[in-house]
Amino acid sequence: MAVEGVDCVAEVSEKGGVGKTSVTAGLIAVAAELGLRVGGVDLDPRGTLTDELGIDDPEKTVNDLYYIDEKKPPVDPVTIAPTVMVRAGRKWPANVFVLPADRSLSNREKDGGNGMEYRLKRALWALREEIDVFFIDAPPRAGGQLVGSALIAAKKALIPSTLSADGWSGVSQALVTISHQNAPGGPNEDLEVAGIVRSIVPRETELREIHRMWDKRLAEDFGDLLLPTLITNYAVRETARTARAPITSAPGREAKTLVGAYRDVLFHTLPHLKEARG
Ligand SMILES: Nc1ncnc2c1ncn2[C@@H]1O[C@H](COP(=O)(O)OP(=O)(O)OP(=O)(O)O)[C@@H](O)[C@H]1O
Ligand SMILES: [Mg+2]
Repeated sequence: MAVEGVDCVAEVSEKGGVGKTSVTAGLIAVAAELGLRVGGVDLDPRGTLTDELGIDDPEKTVNDLYYIDEKKPPVDPVTIAPTVMVRAGRKWPANVFVLPADRSLSNREKDGGNGMEYRLKRALWALREEIDVFFIDAPPRAGGQLVGSALIAAKKALIPSTLSADGWSGVSQALVTISHQNAPGGPNEDLEVAGIVRSIVPRETELREIHRMWDKRLAEDFGDLLLPTLITNYAVRETARTARAPITSAPGREAKTLVGAYRDVLFHTLPHLKEARG
């Protein structure tokens, strides 16, 4: 069972550089615009989302949630979670919160057999009164425990893919990993694949035959899972990342197009938000 009583979406792919963190940050920005209380969960020890959300040197991180001292009884994630979550940086709306990551989190991949992959779900459940929707930025590590914990906590998995061999194989391996979670009797039978979102898509003038070929492969091999929305490669995305500010606050037509695309992906993933908005 995923976290009850709160929406939770994990961005996953087993390849790096396909747009997971960017899609996560974009969805956080557009969900915040709807007035929802949004939680960004960074499970990447490099802390890319943490940084983009304007957090420097966090006092506590998700590492504290997962860590279990084998010599002592485990501390309940319910008591740790509120001490880890902080408000995002000043350029972000006040309704955006962060569960930050730091390098020590990479040590947790080595833990095993202590139930650590169930702790995130419990931590997010503990925050259900404060947050309406969580977006989890998963690291690209294949079959890792942190990714596993994201897929146990989440209701929906969203898989970004570039129009490339890496994009395609990241999707195909992520689908296998997900199937291990949501198979009958698996750790999270409720988990649904919300879809595959094509990201960092070259604009028309830059689109080459090789991109079209991978686009076709994605459509052929993954069929209905492929969302119609395209997230185009625009420099303003990098501007937002550098400014550590939401894409919704960036000026210009390209930013507007990206915001529209993130909004489409959000409403596809969590359709009830559209109804709530009227
Ligand atoms: N729509 C876009 N337009 C332009 N650049 C983009 C876009 N989306 C992502 N990028 C850039 O592409 C790079 C990879 O994106 P991102 O960091 O989101 O991928 P990732 O899958 O999270 O990577 P990793 O696996 O390393 O965590 C980043 O430099 C990011 O700023
Ligand atoms: Mg990333």
